Amino acid sequence: MPDSKPVYLDHAATTPVDPRVLQAMLPFFRERYGNPSSLHRYGQQAEAAVERARKAVAAVLACRPAEVLFTSCATESDNLALRGAAWAARSQRGARRIITTPVEHHAVLHTAMQLAADFDFELDLLPVDEYGMVAPSTLASRLDQDVALVSIIYANNEIGTINPIPELAALCRQRAIPFHTDAVQAAGQLTLNVDELQVDMLSLGAHKFYGPKGIGVLYVREGTPLQPAQTGGGQEFGLRAGTHNVPLIVGLAEALRLAADERDRHVAHYADLRDAIVSGVIEHIPQVRLTGHPEKRMANHASFVMRGVDGNHLLAALDAAGFACSSGSACKTGNPEPSDVLLTLGISHEWALGSLRVTVGRDTCSADVERFLAVLPDLVQRIRSLGRQEEV
Ligand SMILES: Cc1ncc(COP(=O)(O)O)c(C=O)c1O
Repeated sequence: MPDSKPVYLDHAATTPVDPRVLQAMLPFFRERYGNPSSLHRYGQQAEAAVERARKAVAAVLACRPAEVLFTSCATESDNLALRGAAWAARSQRGARRIITTPVEHHAVLHTAMQLAADFDFELDLLPVDEYGMVAPSTLASRLDQDVALVSIIYANNEIGTINPIPELAALCRQRAIPFHTDAVQAAGQLTLNVDELQVDMLSLGAHKFYGPKGIGVLYVREGTPLQPAQTGGGQEFGLRAGTHNVPLIVGLAEALRLAADERDRHVAHYADLRDAIVSGVIEHIPQVRLTGHPEKRMANHASFVMRGVDGNHLLAALDAAGFACSSGSACKTGNPEPSDVLLTLGISHEWALGSLRVTVGRDTCSADVERFLAVLPDLVQRIRSLGRQEEV
């Protein structure tokens, strides 16, 4: 390990908890530990904190507090949106087709696949372009009354591409088909105003925007048919049973409020660093390509594929040199198979194996990026020549 502090360049995987968020959460672990469902003063105090948090989230989404459901993570939010809306659509109007894309996070894609494999729904995967983007005309051509719901990712976690959600969602709204978006990567950088986005459901996870892990939100527009996927107590308007995790709910709301207030400043900072990474990598490394859209991409997200490089070797070498990066989504790390998302974009197996995702955050500075760019080309060259020797 080098002497200097390691540089964390994996903010799409997770972010540290903002100290202001931690401060807001702390009283709810020890002094104000009541269960919001209890009638006594402890319960009332906890309930008031949950309802304050719900209002704060609603203010950022520009929705009604009763449209905000707290869940245990973004994965649960995605699962509830898909299962809940699919079941409701089938029982209310006999609709059975679920439209989504092959570049979704597995929290959406695997849920849709299970609904098709085990629950008699039909899966309709929309084609995406070379940047992983869905064209509104493609979606329009697939919409009819048999569609139970549409789920399309807002900003892609592996390649950073931003989808035209308002246009896509508007097509569904015209036909009264529920539209869900996974906004997990978008939070803190793109608008979450649900009327501008025109969405009926939207998923968030706090740890992607400097909040705690283990807490998420599902926005559900009033009137959207949804059946609960987790049953038990009557919490969250009967749509998500389970005792509220009060400290984490408070933390999520404070993190989202801060992220929205400070968004412009952070996004400008991220974009400068990202642009320096993209141009440095393209200039100094041969046989490398940017993945995802060149302009319509997340401000903090640089992702590449390289020919003849084992992405996992590169990550290990970078880690040894003091840089924490990723080769795709965190869930995929350690998997020697290339990512399905990259293969879907038409990238060959050989190039897709050499994927690298670099995502900057609030504390990343230009000196970190300079140090990173100073070591990366040599590491890539070393891994390429090791690979060639192994082939001989
Ligand atoms: C786009 C997207 N959706 C969903 C998730 C799932 O989040 P969690 O594992 O926190 O539930 C992630 C996490 O990486 C993500 O990037």
